[in-house]
Amino acid sequence: MKIGIGSDHAGYVLKSAIIKHLEEKKLDFVDYGTFKEESVNYPDYALKVSKAVADGEVDYGILICGTGIGMSITANKVKGIRAALVHSLETARMSRLHNNANVLCLGGRVLEEKLALEMVDVWLNTSFEGGRHENRLKLITTLTGL
Ligand code: RB5
Repeated sequence: MKIGIGSDHAGYVLKSAIIKHLEEKKLDFVDYGTFKEESVNYPDYALKVSKAVADGEVDYGILICGTGIGMSITANKVKGIRAALVHSLETARMSRLHNNANVLCLGGRVLEEKLALEMVDVWLNTSFEGGRHENRLKLITTLTGL
């Protein structure tokens, strides 16, 4: 499993903590930036990671901005992306189980680091349930073309 990770300046500190966490767990990842805390625009990083997921360069994406909102809005405009902005272990779990989310969005300015790392673990370790949820995901594509 290969993970693409990206953030803007407001998500940079949490991105660095998640990267350390992925390294400790010996998980394979690609860091798409930003690489410092200087102000940047979140859509640039949301698109880099989302396109990498959509093109199959990586299997999953993790995006962090201040609230996670801008990242999720942008990522969900890329065909094939199901980006979930989550705020608890339960929403992280459900976004995989029922929604087969392939991009996890987190808010670096609104989450405690410990909870965010636990959410990453839960998200990466939960599989899609399929079944009736598969039809609903197909419906998203049919109705939106995305
Ligand atoms: C940057 O100030 C902030 O607007 C951005 O990180 C994000 O929270 C947008 O949704």
